[in-house]
Amino acid sequence: MMLINSRFLALLLWITHCSASMTFEKFKEQSDRSLLWGAYRPATYFSIKPRYVNESPFVMGLMWFDALSETNIGSIRHFVEMHDKVSHYGWKSYDPRIGGVEEIIDPENNLNLTITFMKSRDGLNWISRVHGKKLDPKRDSTGSMVLYLDQQISDANSKSMLKRITEESSNNITYDGYSTELGKYKVQLNDVKGSYYDSQTGDRPFKKGVDASKTSEFSLLIPNDNYWKADQLLKNLYSDTVTGIMQAIYRETTEEGRAKYEIDSVDFPDVLQVRNLYDFEAGNFHLIQKTFDLTGSKKEFEFDVIYNAENSSEKITSETAEALITAGLNEIDSKFNRKFSMGKKDKDKTQFVKSTLSDLLGGIGYFYGNQIVDRETVLDERHFDEIKLEHPQEEGPYGLFTAVPSRSQFPRGFYWDEGFHLLQIMEYDFDLAFDIISSWFNLIEKNSGWIAREVILGDEARSRVPEEFTTQNPNIANPPTLLLAFGEMLKRAIENFDMDSDEIPHDSIENNKEFLIKYSKQIYPKLVKHYKWFLNSQNINADDDYEEIFEDINLAGKVHTNNLYAWVGRTFTHCLPSGLDDYPRAQPPSTSELHVDALSWVGVMARSLKQIASILGRDKDALKYEETEKNVIDNLLNLHWSEKDKCFCDVTVDTYGDNLIHVCHEGYISLLPFALKLIPADSDKLDHVLKLMSDKKKIFSRYGLLSLSKKDKYYGTDENYWRGPIWMNINYLCLDALRFYFPQTYSKKPTSIKISRPKKTVKTAVNLFNSLKSNLVTNVFKEWKNKGYCYENYNPETGEGSGARQFTGWTSLIVNIIGKF
Ligand SMILES: *[C@@H]1O[C@H](CO)[C@@H](O)[C@H](O)[C@H]1NC(C)=O
Ligand SMILES: *[C@@H]1O[C@H](CO)[C@@H](O)[C@H](O)[C@H]1NC(C)=O
Ligand SMILES: *[C@@H]1O[C@H](CO)[C@@H](O)[C@H](O)[C@H]1NC(C)=O
Repeated sequence: MMLINSRFLALLLWITHCSASMTFEKFKEQSDRSLLWGAYRPATYFSIKPRYVNESPFVMGLMWFDALSETNIGSIRHFVEMHDKVSHYGWKSYDPRIGGVEEIIDPENNLNLTITFMKSRDGLNWISRVHGKKLDPKRDSTGSMVLYLDQQISDANSKSMLKRITEESSNNITYDGYSTELGKYKVQLNDVKGSYYDSQTGDRPFKKGVDASKTSEFSLLIPNDNYWKADQLLKNLYSDTVTGIMQAIYRETTEEGRAKYEIDSVDFPDVLQVRNLYDFEAGNFHLIQKTFDLTGSKKEFEFDVIYNAENSSEKITSETAEALITAGLNEIDSKFNRKFSMGKKDKDKTQFVKSTLSDLLGGIGYFYGNQIVDRETVLDERHFDEIKLEHPQEEGPYGLFTAVPSRSQFPRGFYWDEGFHLLQIMEYDFDLAFDIISSWFNLIEKNSGWIAREVILGDEARSRVPEEFTTQNPNIANPPTLLLAFGEMLKRAIENFDMDSDEIPHDSIENNKEFLIKYSKQIYPKLVKHYKWFLNSQNINADDDYEEIFEDINLAGKVHTNNLYAWVGRTFTHCLPSGLDDYPRAQPPSTSELHVDALSWVGVMARSLKQIASILGRDKDALKYEETEKNVIDNLLNLHWSEKDKCFCDVTVDTYGDNLIHVCHEGYISLLPFALKLIPADSDKLDHVLKLMSDKKKIFSRYGLLSLSKKDKYYGTDENYWRGPIWMNINYLCLDALRFYFPQTYSKKPTSIKISRPKKTVKTAVNLFNSLKSNLVTNVFKEWKNKGYCYENYNPETGEGSGARQFTGWTSLIVNIIGKF
């Protein structure tokens, strides 16, 4: 393998002759501006907050319910929950640099909500236009919308504040705000359509100046980082109000001693209004409620929340919003059409692809706060019991800009998922992908090189995680997909580099090698640390036992004993660090196990670092990584390949310790060396892998490749998470690898691999590629059309979506498969 090929060389020459154009500072400034505001709390249905504003952020959030009955308090919407009865939610269109449209169908509250979020061109201002429509026209209901606005105050001396400046009777309300980081701003609430619910019941004791016929509003002081508990506050407020009012009603009796009011006459929309029940001191947290009437023939409402920074010259008003929104949505459409070729595919499919990508982008969040780490517990490597991390310590604060696997189920950063998210995001917005990956790389610990596998920052993020998963441990790894993605980004940048052109466009990093190289230089030491951390923590010391066995079976000298790996933290039934939780491994577990996937991921890391080192002209380093990559490949072929089973397998030693055993479970783990492009292109093992992938009795299905072969004795058993169900991430890697090894699978760009193969093999590969691609697309699309969601995985026998719904993390790779492959 040539270390520095001619492209690299030309690139290096070019760099040395070229003066700086895009600097980090400039990139950061552009990014910070265009990505300042976004729907960065993906765990909520709708909330806007700024990125990297940690001391004094301004946050807006939305809740709603139908106020007609007291029992509806239980259906207050705020956080996206798996179990709530919202039948659909998601972004029809979204770009964090521009804005988008979210649609929410909530039958329980009889609401069809369309929320448009749009930013001004300078990125400093935004509007959220909330449109509500009655779902069932025959049912009487109200659209009771509760907003919260919070201006955090970093300390007692802070000048940050948020204050209502409109007089009380008005429903259009203006607030003056100041944030030490954002500067001066104004927030305006404007009613555009609809009318308030008016009970016209006259002056009842429970009205006391608060009723549903106008905007209800009050403010209070809350501790920092507590705005996310708004729904709890609201529920408490309502239930106390109801109790108090009931008591008042009973107290008010007529002269004859009978109750003056019938309980039946209580009009709940009047009662269920936010009010300053306990004379809270005014503060920077504002609760605002608008209860729109959707009874009888009344069917819709609309209002705006507008944020304008004082020093922006592009102020938004309700009157100018329409033009801004139309232009923004058109821009997203044309960006989308530029990036993905949908050809003459039907309208439905185009909308599917667009909204799936939008949901991935709409899941991008900014998280900030402490994380919980246990650095004390020494993992017991011999007993394979459940891991108990009982020495949690708070560390931080840290910030992370990341996509999430699923807004309802997994609204936080996942190291294993993120690389896949980036493979998709980089096709739409390379700079955005770069921004995210650099945020992750920032988290690499300077001394240890560790990154937590789940990044759970702050109480709000933690509130969505089962307690037993909140604590992270620096010995536990996960597949290093970030390096897979970074390698891909660098490769892309190098391929895009046009050696004949003097004009290098500087609008995107993708076309700006110089910038990427500078960044690589800066991040290189940290990546090396991270690489070493992974290798050292997951390395298996091949002791004398192994050496002897290798000698016995003629493998001495063929196995690189320094490059043997197994996941730390496996239990009897699970190997969470592998990312493939319950995929079967050796039984019983043993400390002599060697994991083929752990080894493969080391190969990916070594390859990426080799790439970076060569780009940086660090030839010696590059040679070292190349050697590791080569050792990994040798070990895959010589040690992990089972000639009997014709597949890649885990390895263990028998109970007497003198025989090597291949632990073969055909499925994703046996495909991984292929999926990660580690098998030499001229290896005869490719044929066997193709055969396995095409085998309908094993892992090929009408809906995609099964995680585990139907013939495996563990297929479909127990938790059945990675024991059959179809997952998009590995299917994607397999399709991509088919393209890599067999350029005949597509016509657009030839790959560098030119191997002459038997016609039959090529035909098998091309057929497999076409049928696999079409099966995946057909099924995921069908499920989306029927149920409105992408899923975490798909049933191997029926194709039905299962696991978390609205799983637009790596399942959204279907967008690349449709629009790029
Ligand atoms: C919700 O409203 C939108 C916009 O008015 C409309 O296109 C959509 O069909 C409605 N959905 C349902 C389920 O009524
Ligand atoms: C507006 O003020 C903020 C905060 O002081 C600052 O960061 C930003 O650059 C200013 N924007 C413009 C357009 O001057
Ligand atoms: C509230 O604001 C909207 C949008 O600017 C405007 O059309 C409407 O007339 C205002 N309502 C009142 C009562 O001022």
